[in-house]
Amino acid sequence: MEIMTQLESLKKIVKQKLKINDPAHDFEHVMRVYRNAERICKTESGNKKLVLSAVLLHDIIKNKNQKNSAQKSAKLAEKILKDNNFSSNEIDIISCAIRDHSYSKGRIPSTIEGKILQDADRLDAIGAIGIARAFSFSGSNKRPFYDPKDPFSKNRNLNDNKWALDHFFKKLLTLEGKMNTKTGKSLAKRRTKILKNFLKEIKNEI
Ligand code: ADP
Ligand code: NI
Repeated sequence: MEIMTQLESLKKIVKQKLKINDPAHDFEHVMRVYRNAERICKTESGNKKLVLSAVLLHDIIKNKNQKNSAQKSAKLAEKILKDNNFSSNEIDIISCAIRDHSYSKGRIPSTIEGKILQDADRLDAIGAIGIARAFSFSGSNKRPFYDPKDPFSKNRNLNDNKWALDHFFKKLLTLEGKMNTKTGKSLAKRRTKILKNFLKEIKNEI
C-alpha cells in the first residue's frame, strides 16, 4: 500500500510540473513510458517500485535546448524522492537510472532498473507514436518534413536538425539494435516494422 501511495504522490507532482510541455514530452509521454515499463517488468527481473519511480521522474526537467536535462532531472528527483520518504539506497538507484537514460549521452545503465527505464523510454520514440513525436518535435522547431530535392538522403549527409525524415535514419531505425532487455527488444522489433512500413508508404506519396 505504501508503494502505491508513494507512486501516486510522484505522479501528481510530475503531472503538475509537465503541464506546459510540448506533446513530445508531456505527461502522456511519461504515462506511455510507465505502461511500457510495466509491460517489461512482467518478463524481466528488477524492482518494479524503483523502475516506475524512475519512469515518473525521468523527464521532470526538459528544457528547450535539451542540454543536460537527464542530469538535471536526476538531481531534482533526489529532492522529490527524499520528500516522499524514499530510502537513500532507493534514491541512489533511481537517480542513477535517470541520469543514464538519455539517448544523446549514449550510456548503458549499470542496473536492471536503469536498463528497463531506457528501453521503455526508447519504445516511445518508435512505432506509430514515435512517428507522431518525431514530426511534432520537428514541427515545433519549424523544420520541413523532408528535403524536397533528396527526401531519402541519397546524395547528401543526414541532417535531422534540418529534416524530420532524416531522424528516422539517424536515430529511430537504430533503436531496436540498442535495446537492453529481451522483452524491450521484441517490442522494439514490432514497432520498427511500423516505421519501415511508414517509410515505404511516404515514399509513394511524396
Ligand atoms: P528522449 O525523450 O527519447 O530522451 P529526445 O528528447 O531527444 O529523446 O526526443 C524527444 C522526441 O523527439 C523523440 O520521440 C525523438 O525521436 C524526437 N526527436 C528528437 N530529436 C529529433 C529531431 N532532430 N528530429 C525529429 N524528431 C526528433
Ligand atoms: Ni522520455
